[in-house]
Amino acid sequence: MIYLDNSATTRPFMEVVDSYTKASLTFFGNPSSLHRMGTEAEQLLLKTKEQIAGILGISSSEIIYTSGGTEGNNLAIKGTAYQLKGRGTHLITTAVEHASTIEAFRSLEAEGFKVTYLKPGPTGQVTAEQVKAALTNQTILVSIIHVNNETGIIMPVEGIGELLKGYPKVRFHIDHVQGATKVPLRLAHGLIDLVTFSSHKFHGLKGTGFIYKKDGLRLTPLFHGGGQEGALRSGTENVAGAVATAKALRMAMELYEERHDKLLHLRNQLLEGLSEIEGVVINTPKELAAPHIVNFSIPKMKPEVIIQALSKRDIHVSTKSACSTKRSEPSHVLLAMGVGKERANSAIRLSLSYLTTEDEVSKALQELQHLIPELLEVVK
Ligand SMILES: Cc1ncc(COP(=O)(O)O)c(C=O)c1O
Repeated sequence: MIYLDNSATTRPFMEVVDSYTKASLTFFGNPSSLHRMGTEAEQLLLKTKEQIAGILGISSSEIIYTSGGTEGNNLAIKGTAYQLKGRGTHLITTAVEHASTIEAFRSLEAEGFKVTYLKPGPTGQVTAEQVKAALTNQTILVSIIHVNNETGIIMPVEGIGELLKGYPKVRFHIDHVQGATKVPLRLAHGLIDLVTFSSHKFHGLKGTGFIYKKDGLRLTPLFHGGGQEGALRSGTENVAGAVATAKALRMAMELYEERHDKLLHLRNQLLEGLSEIEGVVINTPKELAAPHIVNFSIPKMKPEVIIQALSKRDIHVSTKSACSTKRSEPSHVLLAMGVGKERANSAIRLSLSYLTTEDEVSKALQELQHLIPELLEVVK
């Protein structure tokens, strides 16, 4: 089996699953309970936050556990909008966000907020100048995806953060779900207010994740109940999931140090091999993209045909983002980049992880080199 759909989800590290099992069986007490088992679970939960904070260079009080990226984006975006609506009702994001961001903004629009969706240039990036031009005295939030989940393109978030330093009333949120452990994001310098993480994208478990929320900043909670996670995320804490998240983050960051260059090399090998196949158009600009995502189109072909043909050979890739692949609309990301409907309709995404081998990439490339001309012959 060759798995090249790591942007949809990654295989959890065995050590992560082991740590989850161990913590579930040993520390099953409710962290809110007053007895020893409750206290031990609470202490373990705090320890996981200290571990994550140590890795990210932040304070443990700045971590709020969630069920993953979708919840994290919703909490950061809606939580800010509701908290600051007395100050202003204008929000800025981009036209190339993940569905969990776009739909959160759409729901806010339905409630009366005004949203500017910045359109990227042909490189897929938006600029700090565009953000500056969109700011009004009503703006309360700017939310930008760091690494695009379809194309791998990296947004210039540090430049946007620098710009927003001059606008202290505007909060800055980053969807770092695809960037985490692949593309560095400095949190310690304080330019960013809120950041979303999802553990299953870095070999943790599905249904786990967290947001970074700068100390002192207030959000309106979306869930109400027992007041866990500083009253921002009520519900009995997933202590074992937190243990697994801390473990996955540590292991994936170690792999970043060891294997980042190798991952980049594999990605480049794929890009070069694909660009030599007739009928293929590359959508991922090498210099501007993360090391694990390759997006290309075969304008004359339905992507499902390639995906099924590869799947029969036990090679697993996807069209666009996993959340929207079941809908056969063109990619909103590629459309916003202005590549045209045909290319936006025929995109395929290959996504790697630190566990992907050279052999797997070579085999997948060989299959594509055979398959694409064969299938193009059929649709002629
Ligand atoms: C950029 C981005 N943001 C958010 C999400 C949602 O994360 P989750 O699957 O943990 O809800 C994803 C998932 O694909 C993503 O790629």
